[in-house]
Amino acid sequence: MINQKKPLIDSFLSEIQYALGAIYDNSVPKGINKDDIELNNEQAVKSTRIMRINHMGEVCAQALYRGQAAFTKDKKTKDQLYKMCDEENEHLKLCNLRLSELNGKKSILNPLWYAASFSLGAIAGLKEGKWKLGFIEETEKQVKNHLEESITSLPKEDSRSKLFLEEIAKDEEKHRNTVKEIGSTEIPELVKNTMNTLSKVMKNITYHV
Ligand SMILES: [Fe+2]
Ligand SMILES: [Fe+2]
Repeated sequence: MINQKKPLIDSFLSEIQYALGAIYDNSVPKGINKDDIELNNEQAVKSTRIMRINHMGEVCAQALYRGQAAFTKDKKTKDQLYKMCDEENEHLKLCNLRLSELNGKKSILNPLWYAASFSLGAIAGLKEGKWKLGFIEETEKQVKNHLEESITSLPKEDSRSKLFLEEIAKDEEKHRNTVKEIGSTEIPELVKNTMNTLSKVMKNITYHV
């Protein structure tokens, strides 16, 4: 259960602190060249909506991993989840940067999406004996498919968002391979379909708010 060496209240508070950081932190990656893409209003609105969904995806990925890491008993899995979570945080910064360049807003529902994803991650952590890292593998697979969809939906003029998403997609593929190497079991079809449906609902809502 959560971190055995830390009192439960400390673990709880550090999870709250992490969640607030993931949801509200506006930090951006360092050393990235300035935006020199000119988009018209319609293109910028479309790109903003797509990047808002991807930002929400990175918030949720961190929540899933933190949820699973909090409840897993396996030290190796826990360490790997925190490491992958750090990379998701770098993706989040890229999305923060692009959204600010587009003058776009993040989803106002991110706290809700974070809580839902953390709970799902916690269930995956508790089910770990049976599923191993299958839940994460399926998540990364669905994220990769979603990124490919996003890249093709972007206005063709927005090569900068495309580049950012392509960079993120490379890491997601790497994450999927890492969990396969550690050992993952195929999760039930019903769980896969539920994840897919849930993410569709979240994406449809986040497209607008
Ligand atoms: Fe990511
Ligand atoms: Fe990932």
